[in-house]
Amino acid sequence: MPEKLTIPDLLAQVRKGIPLTMITCYDYPTACIIDRAGVDIVLVGDSVAMTVLGYPNTLPATMDMMIIFARAVARGCQRAFVIGDMPYMSYQVSVSEAIRNAGRFMAEAGVDGVKLEGGRNMVEAVRGIVRAGIPVMGHLGLTPQSASMIGGYKVQGRSGDAAIAILEDALALQDAGVFAILLELVPARVAEVITEKLSVPTISIGSGPHCSGHCQIFHDAIGMFEAFTPRHAKRYAEVGAIIRQAMERFVQEIKERTYPGPEHSFKIEREALQQFLEHAARIPGRSSS
Ligand code: KIV
Repeated sequence: MPEKLTIPDLLAQVRKGIPLTMITCYDYPTACIIDRAGVDIVLVGDSVAMTVLGYPNTLPATMDMMIIFARAVARGCQRAFVIGDMPYMSYQVSVSEAIRNAGRFMAEAGVDGVKLEGGRNMVEAVRGIVRAGIPVMGHLGLTPQSASMIGGYKVQGRSGDAAIAILEDALALQDAGVFAILLELVPARVAEVITEKLSVPTISIGSGPHCSGHCQIFHDAIGMFEAFTPRHAKRYAEVGAIIRQAMERFVQEIKERTYPGPEHSFKIEREALQQFLEHAARIPGRSSS
């Protein structure tokens, strides 16, 4: 059985100059496949609300939902470091609620750490969770839980002031004890400088090639999310098209009566069949009316 990756393992990989790989995941069978493929970090993202549950944004994800998805993923990952994404309002209300909910992820779902969105406004929550012995990944740039506050789902840090704010947020999160920071939709050069200024790793999602690691939403990477594909996402497969073709064949074969065939059916012993048929003969059926 492969050994579970720890934070020191992830940091050692970055020190050796090997980029970290991170992908989202929400279920057990996919987690098993992703884990065997050698992905380092698996994020049970609140993006599940959109990619799997069909909501228009991530806000409807709740702790109870996230625990179910995270537990399934954690069971499937023998090697990858699994992170539970703290959903909307699970950490913003008070530090004690943030600690309790991060603790639920660890104890009930069996994840290895948590992620939360926000910078200087979240350092008290981060400090509290880290003090409780729970690893925290920060998340800056486009923070989808506050999309309406930051003007929608667009690149962040394009003005000098906005870029400086992200850098200051990153330094504050590092000081509060995060082990890594996810940078979402930050201009590549800004992400590069932030990466140079931090001692903790940065993970890019749409923030260019210079971060310490790279993340994608699983459904974008395999061509399973039809609503839209963000510019930064690369499709490594067209699984949606493969599933559609398979389902079209399934429908066609049933309509044409070529499935199921004898090889998909089961036999009954002759005597048992005889007994069954004698009994059935006494019951009026459709053909007798
Ligand atoms: O919820 C999520 O999937 C995220 C992505 C930005 C990685 O936080």
